[in-house]
Amino acid sequence: MFKAVLFDLDGVITDSAEYHFLAWKKLGDELGIPIDRAFNEQLKGVSREDSLRRILALGDKKNDYSAEAFAIFAKRKNDNYVETIQTVTPNDVYPGILELLKELKAKKVKIALASASKNGPFLLERMMLMNYFDLIADPTKVAAGKPAPDIFVAAAEGMGIDPKEAIGIEDAQAGIQAIKAAGALPIGVGEAEVLGTDIAVVENTSELTFAYLSDVWNKGQKEG
Ligand code: BG6
Ligand code: MG
Repeated sequence: MFKAVLFDLDGVITDSAEYHFLAWKKLGDELGIPIDRAFNEQLKGVSREDSLRRILALGDKKNDYSAEAFAIFAKRKNDNYVETIQTVTPNDVYPGILELLKELKAKKVKIALASASKNGPFLLERMMLMNYFDLIADPTKVAAGKPAPDIFVAAAEGMGIDPKEAIGIEDAQAGIQAIKAAGALPIGVGEAEVLGTDIAVVENTSELTFAYLSDVWNKGQKEG
């Protein structure tokens, strides 16, 4: 049986992935770099700085700006994003997530946050979910962001658990890659065509019950 669940936040626990998209889109428009939803799949799970680098590369403007301008753009996006999450409440928690957290606690399965976002703790506070988490991995302390495994490894090991004994839940391509690289078992939230047909994917978080996770784990173990 799995000993821990490592949760991504944006797009898994609540709809904040949409707010990240809208904030990047606004900045992109200001810079003359249109960002659509297909391209946004490449930004999901990726750190603020790496996202901005990808956007500038998309617009062929990689070398157009100084480090100061880069920092200003990143801050502008974040200020915009932070403004939009001020009104998040417990009602914004995705369906089934609170129930899953409660079930995991009851079964003594450890719970960690493995989000790339520096705004993760703020959002957990707003949704009143902080108490369910045994650990919040610090994205500023890991050497490499997703798709590198570091944040998932830090989340599991920080709780004294081997990543191989954990399930990771993600809505991002980079995140699924990171979970696989960490040696944990991935479950995707979204579309299999985007996240991969080789892993378990749910379209709606209401499907993420303890029974479902156990089923995926048992099958994954047999296949592995
Ligand atoms: C991830 C999001 O969770 O966090 C990305 O999927 C975002 O879109 C990244 O860029 C970093 O977040 P923040 O809040 O620190 O800019
Ligand atoms: Mg996400």
